[in-house]
Amino acid sequence: MPRPRPFARVRFARGRAVTLWCEDAIAGLPLRLPRQGVDVVVTSPPYNRKVAYSTYSDDRPRSEYLAWIGQLRDAVDTVLSPAGSFFLNVGASPSDPWLPMDVAREVGRTFVLQNVLHWVKSIAIDRSAAGRSSGLDHDLGLGHYRPVGSDRYVHGAHEYVYHFSRRGDVPLDRLAIGVPYQDKSNVARWRGAGGGLRCRGNTWFLPYPTIRYRARDRPHPATFPPELPEWCLRLHGRGRVRLAVDPFVGIGSSAVAAVRLNVPFVGFDVDPDYLAVAVERVRAERTGRRSPVTRRPAGRTRRAGSTSASASG
Ligand SMILES: C[S@@+](CC[C@H](N)C(=O)[O-])C[C@H]1O[C@@H](n2cnc3c(N)ncnc32)[C@H](O)[C@@H]1O
Repeated sequence: MPRPRPFARVRFARGRAVTLWCEDAIAGLPLRLPRQGVDVVVTSPPYNRKVAYSTYSDDRPRSEYLAWIGQLRDAVDTVLSPAGSFFLNVGASPSDPWLPMDVAREVGRTFVLQNVLHWVKSIAIDRSAAGRSSGLDHDLGLGHYRPVGSDRYVHGAHEYVYHFSRRGDVPLDRLAIGVPYQDKSNVARWRGAGGGLRCRGNTWFLPYPTIRYRARDRPHPATFPPELPEWCLRLHGRGRVRLAVDPFVGIGSSAVAAVRLNVPFVGFDVDPDYLAVAVERVRAERTGRRSPVTRRPAGRTRRAGSTSASASG
């Protein structure tokens, strides 16, 4: 029988590559990857929220969907290394706030929930709360804002990133995504400990990059920005990632993150059109030729009421 071939393999450094498989991830993970050979799994599965993917149907009975998440958990269990991290991004809809927690419960039957991170897509900061030292002279609304068409709900500005591990004791490189101390008078005191940086905590403000043409610049209904998987990889400890995997790679945001960090990477998706875009983004990242779908968020500052954006998952 001929050896199965990946959809694409893009080499980006000596001995390092992004390998993309066009197949069902649950079947593919144990087939294509070394047993317990993956240090970080970082992914955003479909959330069963009727998102219009080209190939996958995102509208199943809840019990069937959760059973499928259980199969994903078991597939990850076969490939995750003993000290590995499994970062799982899931978002809710206003009318279904339990969904991410139901998913986390299902995965938690095997793995320990080590951290709960909040991916904040937009935030309002009042000048008075920011304090005088911030230099702000007006209230800020940052990130993309999609108004909710209901008087029952506030708009959803965040998603969860559940960090699972086998025993809940994976040491993290918190300062790899650290933030400078606000109070400069303390910097000297803290410099020895963290080079003037403190832990970022579990609220990660990462707005979508501003795009001009949706179909050209982000041709997928539910992406996360590459910075999200990038921060997950950094937090796990860049030097301890021999292989990173995204079972639902979509248009390759996590693959782009892996190239940025020089980490070997394997991704899966059932949709060849998404994978073709992923290849294009990885190539652009490798050559430093940033396409609109790969560039980092510009300035990261937008006023409230700015353009809407896709939800992940
Ligand atoms: C939430 S999206 C991931 C988007 C990705 N994080 C990005 O930024 O581009 C989920 C993806 O899972 C894919 N998918 C659905 N079922 C799958 C399966 N059984 N195996 C692999 N991929 C699947 C869909 O085609 C979709 O692209």
